[in-house]
Amino acid sequence: MRVAIYPGSFDPFTNGHLDILQRAAVLFDHVIVGVLVHPAKKCLFSPEERVEMISDVIKKIENVRAIHFNGLLVDFCRSTGSCAIIRGLRAVSDYEYEMQMFSVNNQLAPDLETVFLMSSPKFSFLSSSIAKEVARYGGDISGLVPEKVARAMHAKFAAKS
Ligand code: PNS
Repeated sequence: MRVAIYPGSFDPFTNGHLDILQRAAVLFDHVIVGVLVHPAKKCLFSPEERVEMISDVIKKIENVRAIHFNGLLVDFCRSTGSCAIIRGLRAVSDYEYEMQMFSVNNQLAPDLETVFLMSSPKFSFLSSSIAKEVARYGGDISGLVPEKVARAMHAKFAAKS
């Protein structure tokens, strides 16, 4: 069975993430969405909230599940028996950071493959930060994030104001 990890911060999970995940799920037997627990970074949603939201969004995709992880991605891959890391690429600007991450992971675990999927053009502008910016000022985020995520974002920003 070929298992892949789709890792990220997912603060929050966007329609662009969902697009990459759905396409990865066709390529692998099982895909695990790995939600990083950032020890230092201030996130809008806790790791538990992010995993709960993603699990709800992906509940109809049979071969996918979401869990959070601490520490090194390569260790998480090993502990889950994964053979590949999935990353989405939106634009040239993503390349440098992705190349750096690939190089570190490849140094630590040469047997782990990184598979890059190009983001669909309609999501090439989209990021979690952009979605948060629009939601913070009350803009329409219905095309940017899944419905459940949009509701949770509006609730978070309403509670903050
Ligand atoms: O969505 P992001 O923030 O671009 O995802 C980055 C992520 C979570 C894939 C990366 O920060 C990561 O793998 N962190 C775990 C720590 C680690 O393994 N670092 C070494 C490789 S950069």
